[in-house]
Amino acid sequence: MAGPVERARAVHSALNGTPPARTRPEPPEGRRVELPPAEQPDADLVDVLRRRRSAYSFAPRPLRLDALGALLGLAVGVQRFVSAYGADRHPLGMAPSAGGLPCLRAYAVVRSAENVEPGVYRYDAAAHELVERVPGDPGSALAEAYLQPEFAERAPVTLALTARLDVAFGKYPLRHYRTLHVDAGIAAQNLYLVATALGLSCCAVAGYDDEALAALLRLPDAEIPTLLFPTGHART
Ligand SMILES: Cc1cc2nc3c(=O)[nH]c(=O)nc-3n(C[C@H](O)[C@H](O)[C@H](O)COP(=O)(O)O)c2cc1C
Repeated sequence: MAGPVERARAVHSALNGTPPARTRPEPPEGRRVELPPAEQPDADLVDVLRRRRSAYSFAPRPLRLDALGALLGLAVGVQRFVSAYGADRHPLGMAPSAGGLPCLRAYAVVRSAENVEPGVYRYDAAAHELVERVPGDPGSALAEAYLQPEFAERAPVTLALTARLDVAFGKYPLRHYRTLHVDAGIAAQNLYLVATALGLSCCAVAGYDDEALAALLRLPDAEIPTLLFPTGHART
């Protein structure tokens, strides 16, 4: 009988009405971009909750590196290390996750950001660094992945949240396919609130083509996209 990752992939494909995706190995890592340590924004939680909005346009300028670092670090970075799962320093996130498992990954699809070449990067939360995955302007592939391609044109950076089936099903049974999406929802609200506190604009986007996005991010078979987050400075 197929293992839980294959069975979850079969469900994922059936929901999309598509054949199972091609086998794709994890790509080699490229150069690393150190992110500035996240500075704490001067913001009141209730005020931020009231001001939070989904944005459909962004200031037409590159995303500042300190803003990108603060957004990733405060929303989906590491909050603390604990002794767990056989490791002395197991990372726990700013966003809680089921079992404290590192099932979620964040990616930055960069069209225009200060001191970061255009390309696709994985966020290494423990190191607070971007790891290059695909060099070059991702514009046309990103526009094909979005069901609303204008997001690719308008947002200087798109963050992508993904879920690792192998990590989830290493501990939990297959019904936790759903829990992965709860984890993603919690991370999405963190992104919305931190972005608002930082004066950034963003929008959670579930409208994308799974296979086109997985191909753009070079996701291995055991990892699925869960949400996109076009992000930029707020239009004034
Ligand atoms: C999980 C999720 C998925 C969403 N997907 C899309 C989307 O694909 N396209 C879009 O234009 N907006 C999307 N949105 C934004 C919602 O339309 C928006 O949150 C809603 O209209 C309320 O507006 P507000 O966020 O400004 O309060 C999504 C929001 C969430 C939470």
